[in-house]
Amino acid sequence: MTTLFKNIKELIQVRDKQIDFVSGAAMKILPTIKNAFLVVENGLISDYGKMYECPNSEFDMIVDATGKMILPSWCDSHTHIVYAGNREGEFVDRINGLSYEDIANNGGGILNSAKKLQETSEDDLYNQSKTRLEEVMQLGTGAVEIKSGYGLTADAELKMLRVIKRLKENYPIEIKATFLGAHAVPLNYKNNKRGYLQMLIDDVMPIIASENLAEYVDIFCETGYFSVEDTALILEAGKKLGLIPKIHVNQFTAIGGVQVGVKYKALSVDHLEEMRDEDIEALKNTKTMPVALPSCSYFLSIPYTPARKMIDAGLPLALATDYNPGSTPSGNMNFVISTACIKMKMTPEEALNAATVNGAYAMGLGKQVGSITKGKLANIILTKPINSYGFIPYSFGNHQIEKVYLKGLEIK
Ligand code: NIG
Ligand code: FE
Repeated sequence: MTTLFKNIKELIQVRDKQIDFVSGAAMKILPTIKNAFLVVENGLISDYGKMYECPNSEFDMIVDATGKMILPSWCDSHTHIVYAGNREGEFVDRINGLSYEDIANNGGGILNSAKKLQETSEDDLYNQSKTRLEEVMQLGTGAVEIKSGYGLTADAELKMLRVIKRLKENYPIEIKATFLGAHAVPLNYKNNKRGYLQMLIDDVMPIIASENLAEYVDIFCETGYFSVEDTALILEAGKKLGLIPKIHVNQFTAIGGVQVGVKYKALSVDHLEEMRDEDIEALKNTKTMPVALPSCSYFLSIPYTPARKMIDAGLPLALATDYNPGSTPSGNMNFVISTACIKMKMTPEEALNAATVNGAYAMGLGKQVGSITKGKLANIILTKPINSYGFIPYSFGNHQIEKVYLKGLEIK
């Protein structure tokens, strides 16, 4: 199957050579080709260039993209889209004055979602989750990381990971799985947090490794949840099983989560709403990608990750949704990009780099997706007719997507 996209107004994020990620001043550079063509062969990008070089061989399909742009599909490296039910009651409680912390302390929050999930069958959980996956694919996401963490028992955590595995088998979108058993301390371990962690280490993590249910391990390193010591314990256990860290740090308080992540060579450290100078320093010259989740800041009315300060200090940055029932009930990467520009003062170039090439790196998919590079998957967005790519973040609350293609095939 061969497809030619011709007369593309601008082909965005063209990287002739595979790069790991962009950081600092390089984030302001978004390489493009104006008046371009793109050839897809059997789901992979096989050729691209200026229209005057366009091959005139036979193609199975030709798409005329006059006035429209093509860019790599969004790479959402942080989500929790496998969950049961929702928490709109807590949303109203927050409007009426309770804080996220108050709600969690009253037995709501993550424990509320865990109770629902434990009572939900695997099939029902799969069906609820696939609706969200289909929704984000329509919104232009072509690669996504999904975490467990709403099970909080051995069985329920494994149930979540098996649902992720089924989604992976049944959908064309690239999916990576992360084990987040240490998301909150369940009630039956209320006074025995260490016992809960040990249960995860002894009873759950070996099964995950032997059945290949996750590549990454996560923990909510936060005051009132898990300490830096707890984080080191889980990451150490993960290391023995080949699970790479991608962790929740610095959401409400900065307690050294960034440092422990860097120490254990985390692929990413995520949230970062509270960043001290020493946290920025700790990330310099490392392979750990900082990930910002602006929709979470928006929904909870908490500070935004200080992107300007971080990028100006030379760091890379990725953007992701954090789609989950409590802090971010939205998987819309278009909104994330707009919010990053509007609230975090990222330029459109920086935001588009953060949501594609850097997002791909942050979930270990840099060789497969994230840029227009020969040999990568043809996971692409065809925009509506637009004047410039800056219109994508500018038109906030909307999106400029006409069609999404995953592995070269249009998503219906
Ligand atoms: O990434 N911060 C921890 N975990 C999720 C939210 C959990 C919840 O409220 O359900 C997050 O924001
Ligand atoms: Fe999260």
